[in-house]
Amino acid sequence: ALKDNTVIIVLGASGDLAQKKTFPALFTLFRQGYLPKGVHIVGYARTKMDLPEFHRRQTVYIKNKDDPEIKKKLDEFSALSTYVAGAYDQDAAFQQLTKHLEEIEGTYGAAEANRVFYMALPPSVFTTVAQHLRSNCYSTKGHNRIIIEKPFGKDLDSCREMMSALKAVWTEDETYRIDHYLGKEMVKNLLVLRFGNTALTPSWDKNSIANVQITFKEPFGTEGRGGYFDEFGIIRDILQNHLLQVLSILTMERPVSFSAEDIRDEKVKVLRAIPPVAREDTLLGQYVGANGKPGYLEDDTVPKGSTCPTFAATTLWIHNPRWEGVPFILRAGKAVNEAKVEIRIQYKEVTQGIFKDISRNELVIRIQPNEAVYIKLNLKTPGMATRAMPTEMDLTYKRRFTDAVIPEAYEALILDAIHGDHSNFVRDDELDVAWKIWTPLLHWIDGREGSPPKPEPYPYGSRGPKQLDAYIAKYGYKRTDRT
Ligand code: BG6
Repeated sequence: ALKDNTVIIVLGASGDLAQKKTFPALFTLFRQGYLPKGVHIVGYARTKMDLPEFHRRQTVYIKNKDDPEIKKKLDEFSALSTYVAGAYDQDAAFQQLTKHLEEIEGTYGAAEANRVFYMALPPSVFTTVAQHLRSNCYSTKGHNRIIIEKPFGKDLDSCREMMSALKAVWTEDETYRIDHYLGKEMVKNLLVLRFGNTALTPSWDKNSIANVQITFKEPFGTEGRGGYFDEFGIIRDILQNHLLQVLSILTMERPVSFSAEDIRDEKVKVLRAIPPVAREDTLLGQYVGANGKPGYLEDDTVPKGSTCPTFAATTLWIHNPRWEGVPFILRAGKAVNEAKVEIRIQYKEVTQGIFKDISRNELVIRIQPNEAVYIKLNLKTPGMATRAMPTEMDLTYKRRFTDAVIPEAYEALILDAIHGDHSNFVRDDELDVAWKIWTPLLHWIDGREGSPPKPEPYPYGSRGPKQLDAYIAKYGYKRTDRT
């Protein structure tokens, strides 16, 4: 019951991330009864606004606001949400915030009061805000937690610099680094799927698996967000963090327990066995205008002549006994033909002899949309003939779990942070080794070693550069009859 008294402080409360992700997630948690009983929400940002305006902004992206049940809950949610305007770099402003927090906490009486600081802020102010919070807003009446999200630097050195500045003020235990892919249901499912199924576990290695693809596809381009994107590019935006996290859970050894440290120990171990990504194993692309949609370089927010990749396919290798020689193809593209994130594990060929041209097995884990796990198996064609045919064993969630409510990533993660569970947050050493894998390649792409490589053009709405199929085939992927 003591834990019930928690104030969640959203820094950057007037910004995009807060409006699109943080507040809707908090609201859903509240509506479903997951937030602590004594919860309060305090927004903090530079913009001056009155309370009704803050409440309006808090609910911009909340759906079905006309539904009476939602409306009622929204009123309750607003009633416990307040706002403080202030600068990001002045002690006096943060002391105002503290005063406000103490007023709220006064209503808790002598009981414990916890503070969870959610940084929905641009990276340029992360460090300053974290320092000011620590020196002005740190509670001695309960625990303090800080939630931050990428970008954590741009390469190994800048990440280390930022981490050490943050570590000087907030301990590892107090810090929750979000990679929102770790909050996705199908990513969390990997632990159970892998380690809870004897049918799968023994074949989870180089003896049975030929290649693995982890693919991220988004059907829209930068569309006005080019300023941010161009500074980072698709590798820093998606592969370095989201796809690598998926890879580490997919390939790690079985953790000793479900504890956060045991899980993260195994993730770090497998990541350390991956050498930096080689240029030769990389295919870069940039979308060009097509079908009435503008190309990347036609986005006004993108610098003229930018060679920033909006598509990348890279192949990673894991040097350990389980995975030696298995290619892991990580690829991501903006402005491609569909929205899809999936893991595709292709098994080795059946020994030929009695069969010819029999399809390989594939296990596909579709992370989004339309969550599914399906495995392609060969069956005898029903009837008199003795021919094999490829078919699927299909666990599409919508059909299988008709009533299940699948939480949004941010909902799951915010709740974990409130409960003090670090399992699905990125540990400092994990971040460090992740940057080691990508930094040399990124420096080359950034043009630090001579002229930057020129990305291959691909039309907006296509599958990616025309070299893609040949690229995948080079690493041994064989198209099966049904894809
Ligand atoms: C973010 C990237 O981390 O992830 C965005 O910065 C991307 O560019 C987004 O669109 C994708 O997240 P999701 O949950 O929609 O797959």
